[in-house]
Amino acid sequence: MSATGTLAGIRAVPGLEAYLDALEERLARTVASHPGLVAAVGNEALAAGGKRLRPALVFLSTPRDREPSLAAGVAVELVHMATLVHDDLIDRAHFRRGKAAAWSVYGSDAARATGDYLFARAFAELAAAGDPEAVAILADATLCLARGEALQRTQAHDPSTTVEAYLERCALKTGKLFEAACRLGGGSGEYGLALGVAFQIVDDILDCSGATIETGKIAGTDLRDGTPTLPLLLAAQEDAVVRAALAGDPLALSTGGALVRVAATGALERSLEVALDYASRARACLNGELHRDELEALTHAVVNRER
Ligand code: IPE
Ligand code: IPE
Ligand code: MG
Ligand code: MG
Repeated sequence: MSATGTLAGIRAVPGLEAYLDALEERLARTVASHPGLVAAVGNEALAAGGKRLRPALVFLSTPRDREPSLAAGVAVELVHMATLVHDDLIDRAHFRRGKAAAWSVYGSDAARATGDYLFARAFAELAAAGDPEAVAILADATLCLARGEALQRTQAHDPSTTVEAYLERCALKTGKLFEAACRLGGGSGEYGLALGVAFQIVDDILDCSGATIETGKIAGTDLRDGTPTLPLLLAAQEDAVVRAALAGDPLALSTGGALVRVAATGALERSLEVALDYASRARACLNGELHRDELEALTHAVVNRER
């Protein structure tokens, strides 16, 4: 694979590294703006790193005649971080970005308040930039995120969740924020939406097969929580033990080996096919953008990733 076909390779595009450096500085400043517990917890989440993919999308989507907006990149990453802090609490996930998740160190109340603080800082950044349309775009995406997480709750422990309903959830909880990042940059939201769905499917595959050292997360969280992801749904159609584990049967979960059975059904490869299809749909949306090559490379990189 060429260097630009990896997430790290794409960072080599002129101007992006400087944009992301400035972004880091501004993220740190905005998180530190109201000193106290939530700022300290928020700063830890920030310092743990992350791929900063959504701000990179803002940059890459910016047309020739505009300066990439730092406020937009900061706001979109803050919304992402806020959802992760809340998501780990909801998913009871102990590990994030290779570190202990905020709720597991500081407790549920502190994690909830930190997420709320990060959301508030995101909108404060955009409001200060004086761009009401940008605020509306991000507010819409944030509402969709909440709807996606709510949908996930209603689908929990249900192995009969349809693939269509699963894809709807991916669009809401992940695709819409990718869409927003692209639109905030000034580019095609359609590309971002399809890319985000591909990204979430791969995240769900990595939850079955990924290594903590790469992902910074602990595999098997989705099965343990009964979250019907595409690989788990496809495997459940073939394997009664997986189906029982997904439905929350303690015996099927405790005997272990359920993830090995998922892999044995071929569900990981079949899920990757669906992700590849969304990546190709994203590519089909591209048309003469300034950073077309990098946006195209990104559609390969999000499905070829290990972290
Ligand atoms: C994780 O997103 C949450 C999903 C939408 C799957 P990322 O994989 O972009 O997380 P970081 O920011 O790199 O940690
Ligand atoms: C994505 O879903 C979470 C959000 C969009 C908030 P996951 O629950 O799969 O994300 P990870 O795996 O915890 O990062
Ligand atoms: Mg999660
Ligand atoms: Mg996941």
